[in-house]
Amino acid sequence: MANPSLLILAGDGIGPEVMTEVKKIIGWLGTKRGIAFDVEEGLVGGCSYDAHGTPLTDATMERAQAVDAVLLGAVGGPKYDDLDFSVKPERGLLRLRKEMDLYANLRPAQCFDALADFSSLKKDVVAGLDIMIVRELTSGVYFGEPRGIFTEGNERVGINTQRYTESEIARVARSAFELARKRGGKVCSMEKANVMESGILWREVTQKVRDEEYPDVALTHMYADAGAMQLTRWPKQFDVIVTDNLFGDLLSDLAAMLTGSLGMLPSASLGAPMANGRPKALYEPVHGSAPDIAGQGKANPIACILSFAMALRYSFDMGAEADRLEQAVETVLAQGVRTADLMGPEGGTPVSTAEMGARIVAALDASL
Ligand code: IPM
Ligand code: MG
Repeated sequence: MANPSLLILAGDGIGPEVMTEVKKIIGWLGTKRGIAFDVEEGLVGGCSYDAHGTPLTDATMERAQAVDAVLLGAVGGPKYDDLDFSVKPERGLLRLRKEMDLYANLRPAQCFDALADFSSLKKDVVAGLDIMIVRELTSGVYFGEPRGIFTEGNERVGINTQRYTESEIARVARSAFELARKRGGKVCSMEKANVMESGILWREVTQKVRDEEYPDVALTHMYADAGAMQLTRWPKQFDVIVTDNLFGDLLSDLAAMLTGSLGMLPSASLGAPMANGRPKALYEPVHGSAPDIAGQGKANPIACILSFAMALRYSFDMGAEADRLEQAVETVLAQGVRTADLMGPEGGTPVSTAEMGARIVAALDASL
């Protein structure tokens, strides 16, 4: 059988630095576990704009469609702030999501024991937190038409459209229910059915899918604003949260911050199964390109490494290897090894991006 294939798009800012550490893990799997990947690399975001005048070339898009999984670092930076909207770095990422039809964005918010003191919330509110936000990723106000800036009379008007079809809602709801079955068996769906028709439809369809296909999963509904409040009040009440593209963008940042560090959280964006049975998939850290610390060895590579663990689990059915990698991260954190973002009052061993990667590889070695 052919090796599983990966396309690495490290992107901008700290993207290349954190991805270098993921490559160490990929190398380790090859030499120590006999698991070889066919790895190719490409450009996305600002670096692609610099080289080709577009944040994603058609050739790279084609490769993304062809491989088993895409690993992405981060895109964007102040250098690109003044670019025309159509060629901004983010457009490259949005094109990948849309054309690969990656409709289910899985964003776990997990509090690592060693970091519970790091949260802005009290320790007992966040210790042991483990929730999964499933964000719809290919529709809603991010992509709805009409959109644009138009002139009406003597002033301009900016328009975006929130739009969801029943099938778009149903398929992401199914992703959430499937995940809940393997976790705590609970889904909370968030929308604004009190003010938006798309929210009314969202509520109806998620309930119908649950009643007809997942009667064993408990489903509750919450207005998204109340959901934000409940997430900060008592986040452990949630297991899986399913929500639309824009609310998911906001709520997942909120949930990420609860856990203590944005630098720790991975994500998976999944679409329909390909001919080989694997889902179309892109894996990326939740954090951004952090241009302020780029190139200084300060970035935390853990979110990107844990994104690769998600790839092992969801694309390659290598759950045991994913567990081993996640365990190695926990071990290193428990040893007090800390990148700059994780340095708190209690101290620890300060390490660079590369050193953190090396420590995780050492913990992997020790696990054999
Ligand atoms: C995210 C980011 C993106 C989004 C940006 C970079 C386009 O905030 O993945 O959450 O808004 O979806
Ligand atoms: Mg976001």
